[in-house]
Amino acid sequence: MGATYNKTMRYTTAGESHGPEEIAVIEGIPAGLHLTHEDINEQLARRQRGYGRGERQKIETDTVTFLTGVRHQYTLGSPITLNVHNDDHNNWSKIMAPNTPATPENTLRKVLRPRPGHADLVGGIKYRHHDDLRNVLERSSARETTMRVAVGAVAKKLLAEIGVDVHGFVVNVGPAKSDLSQLTQYHDLQALREVTESFETRALDAAADAAIRDVIDKTKRDANTVGGQVQVIATGMPVGLGSYVSADEKLDGKIARAIVGINAFKGVQFGGGFDNAEKYGDQVMDEIFWDAEKGFYRGSDNLGGFEGGMTTGEAIVVRGVVKPIPTLYRPMQSVDIDTHQDHKASIERSDTTAVTAAAVIAEAMVAIELAKAVLDKFDADNIDRMKEQVAAYREEVRRF
Ligand SMILES: Cc1cc2nc3c(=O)[nH]c(=O)nc-3n(C[C@H](O)[C@H](O)[C@H](O)COP(=O)(O)O)c2cc1C
Repeated sequence: MGATYNKTMRYTTAGESHGPEEIAVIEGIPAGLHLTHEDINEQLARRQRGYGRGERQKIETDTVTFLTGVRHQYTLGSPITLNVHNDDHNNWSKIMAPNTPATPENTLRKVLRPRPGHADLVGGIKYRHHDDLRNVLERSSARETTMRVAVGAVAKKLLAEIGVDVHGFVVNVGPAKSDLSQLTQYHDLQALREVTESFETRALDAAADAAIRDVIDKTKRDANTVGGQVQVIATGMPVGLGSYVSADEKLDGKIARAIVGINAFKGVQFGGGFDNAEKYGDQVMDEIFWDAEKGFYRGSDNLGGFEGGMTTGEAIVVRGVVKPIPTLYRPMQSVDIDTHQDHKASIERSDTTAVTAAAVIAEAMVAIELAKAVLDKFDADNIDRMKEQVAAYREEVRRF
């Protein structure tokens, strides 16, 4: 137990995909952080912009309202409630009505033929939603990730106060890949951000952008879906956040969980990740150097910024694997839960790929875990005190 009691930053989201509102409540953000609607709306717009996104993005323009916890553009230290209205709800108000009993008319869009790969069947069995699997998909839908991006925007604002930057981009969609050898030319994330955000695909280079568009267009024509990988880089984290002393304190472990907790994410790696399994030790470990100006540093970053579950001070490099979207416009085989007869799976309005948006969501999730780690170690009551403590700690690390 430290001398200061740190409230752990935590959050919860609520909302159904076609319900009236999406909500997030965040606890543990220090008082005095400058925060505006624009900080959050910019990130929500990025999530909606990716190539391969479907019709819903044309119906909605996500904007946030602060319901609690912010006054005159500064956080109060009290719980922050964020609200995003679902514009599409107007088309679904009867079907989603909380206060009227189910009638044949307001259950018209029943889902009875579960989609392979989605939460429909298992969720229906688990929660006994035998009448209508819509009761599952309304929450398992990735619409909920809107609020994780909103919470991530608050986390990014906090991290920026101590010089931590976080950015996500697309490595590949199906067979079309960014040229990662080009990554070394970007010395800071702002330069990388300008390049990848200039492409609707969030690729790293123009050739990959064109190739990814082709893959997405062809996949759409085939009424199919496609997966890929996204990468998140975070720079400027202080050394030694997270801990080796207990398994659940390892920060790389927390980030891995946060990434695989995103809808459709099925794998995660740090630095060279799975490729490191085919290498020898001297090709993988990051050699240690010392300089009077900056203290200890590494000659490479093959381990993605972690040793012993703690930040090394090098860039954090996290990759996530995104499976193809389960809803297919040429549906796969399923079984009707009412009749138990073979039937093609249900179709819900759907995207061709989630990968371009997934880069923004993964970025948000990494930012949230990093912000939690910072607030676990430093003062979490007031942002200026937190910054003073981070600065003093960085100086101690430099002198080690
Ligand atoms: C940004 C994003 C958008 C998604 N859009 C869709 C979609 O339009 N249709 C769909 O069937 N699944 C979509 N998914 C994936 C499902 O939400 C996900 O596969 C499902 O909840 C089952 O969870 P699991 O894949 O993690 O096992 C999307 C995922 C993300 C990250």
